[in-house]
Amino acid sequence: MADLSPDLSPRNPDWWRQAVIYQVYPRSFADADGDGLGDLKGIAQRLDHLAALGVDAVWLSPFYPSELADGGYDVIDPRGVDDRLGTLDDFDALVAEAHRLGLKVIVDIVPNHTSHLHPWFQEALRAGPGSAARERYVFRRGRGAHGELPPSDWQSVFGGSAWRRVPDGEWYLHLFAPEQPDLNWDNEEVRADFRTTLRFWSDRGVDGFRVDVAHGLAKDLTEPLRDVGDIGATGEDALPLVPPGSHPYWDRDEVHEIYRDWRKIFDAYRPPRMAVAEAWVPGARRALYARPDELGQAFNFEYLEARWDAEELRDVITGSLATARAAGASATWVLSNHDVVRHASRLMLPPGTDPAAWLLADGRAPAVDPAAGLRRARAATLLMLALPGSAYLYQGEELGLPEVADLPVEVLQDPIWEQTGHVRKGRDGCRVPLPWTAGLPHAGFGAREEPWLPQPAGWPSYAVDRQRSDPDSMLSLYRTAIALRPRFGDGPLTWLPAPDGVLAFSRADGALCVVNLAATPADLPARSRLLLSSGPLDDAGRLPQDTAAWLHA
Ligand code: GLC
Repeated sequence: MADLSPDLSPRNPDWWRQAVIYQVYPRSFADADGDGLGDLKGIAQRLDHLAALGVDAVWLSPFYPSELADGGYDVIDPRGVDDRLGTLDDFDALVAEAHRLGLKVIVDIVPNHTSHLHPWFQEALRAGPGSAARERYVFRRGRGAHGELPPSDWQSVFGGSAWRRVPDGEWYLHLFAPEQPDLNWDNEEVRADFRTTLRFWSDRGVDGFRVDVAHGLAKDLTEPLRDVGDIGATGEDALPLVPPGSHPYWDRDEVHEIYRDWRKIFDAYRPPRMAVAEAWVPGARRALYARPDELGQAFNFEYLEARWDAEELRDVITGSLATARAAGASATWVLSNHDVVRHASRLMLPPGTDPAAWLLADGRAPAVDPAAGLRRARAATLLMLALPGSAYLYQGEELGLPEVADLPVEVLQDPIWEQTGHVRKGRDGCRVPLPWTAGLPHAGFGAREEPWLPQPAGWPSYAVDRQRSDPDSMLSLYRTAIALRPRFGDGPLTWLPAPDGVLAFSRADGALCVVNLAATPADLPARSRLLLSSGPLDDAGRLPQDTAAWLHA
């Protein structure tokens, strides 16, 4: 059979189009210095795990100096390394080691906002109203007789007004936490500084960028500021309710000009640096960020948000492929990341449950059967890895980690907890430090201090060392699947006739994928050879519920 493995040679500019990319959340991956917080050396020491897994690239969530008001997405210096996580030399060593192992490196960049401790924001506070320093952010006078009301009704994604007042009476915009003031992208200094940041990391050898909140940079700042009004939604969920491009701060058409500018920088490198947009906007609009003259790729959140339902998944897959094709981009697939309930738990939630609301502070989260969740997660993985395009994995999913839904409220760090007035626990449950070695303190995450979020009692049973040599483990399934994945080639997907509740499609060269979501066992296509299944077939050789199979015709 022809070698269909993706070409990862430095000369291949398109390596990212069919890649498997693994997200590392640095503070929770591996703690080399034992202070309870993961670090760059810890990542470098564990890159062999990723090489053995067979992924093509590692994406690092922010490791920059940060107050950790939002888990590192509140950046004090976008061209530095937080000293609790290491140094720039550690970063260079990590990149060198990754490249030696054949792994690409993608860094996360946060252009929508800085930390309030960024020197620019501190300068803006000191400089006062009307100053050039304030122009780099969005400062406004308030409404009301004494400016005591926020300048508009804009809402923070984390809850409450998106405006905070400073002692001299002006207000500044923060679409996320108050510690994350939004930058003003109409300001040329802001644009220039970001170009410097892109070059800084590209020059250090990074292969690409994950662009945080890519849909937020451009805002309609014409005076008087326009209210969103009461449209029944306050976050990005407002977008389907308004004409495309008309929202005052999400997904505005002007944002694309910024990415066309960045593309010139990406393309000045050999191979060109890749980029992927984090844009929580409806599919057809999302594809615009992935156009070849912009970022090239965008996360597919429709897929992440789809329920475990054959009909819904088929529609989402078909729609995602069509929108990616229309944009001239490759499709992407993602089941979990550091912002959502881990899919081994999420896919088990009763229909109609909002996963974020499931993690309520009162502890009444419906129990999820871990074994059933794992079974579904295994099937979901084989489905995802058989699809055309790139798959983004989140650290720990290869171990089948569930969401830690019962973190005690005293340990919560996510700003969502405070900003929703203790209604939503937020995203800490998917950020619990990884278990590496069952018999070691803290399951091998770090040798000394308690991890920054407590690991639950059952964590060691998921440890890498427990799973490595077990052929039936989740880790073994991921390794085998990633190794076999090139058999699906890079051609299109063709749906095959299948009973209700069953998904079946073929790809290049006779490779087939069948997933059974229905209670009735499904027959596998005749005259096909089983390559891999997510669980055992039944005695009659049929595919049971919540099981996926890869076959060769
Ligand atoms: C993105 C990140 C998320 C962060 C937010 C604000 O959505 O993924 O973790 O809270 O941006 O930077």
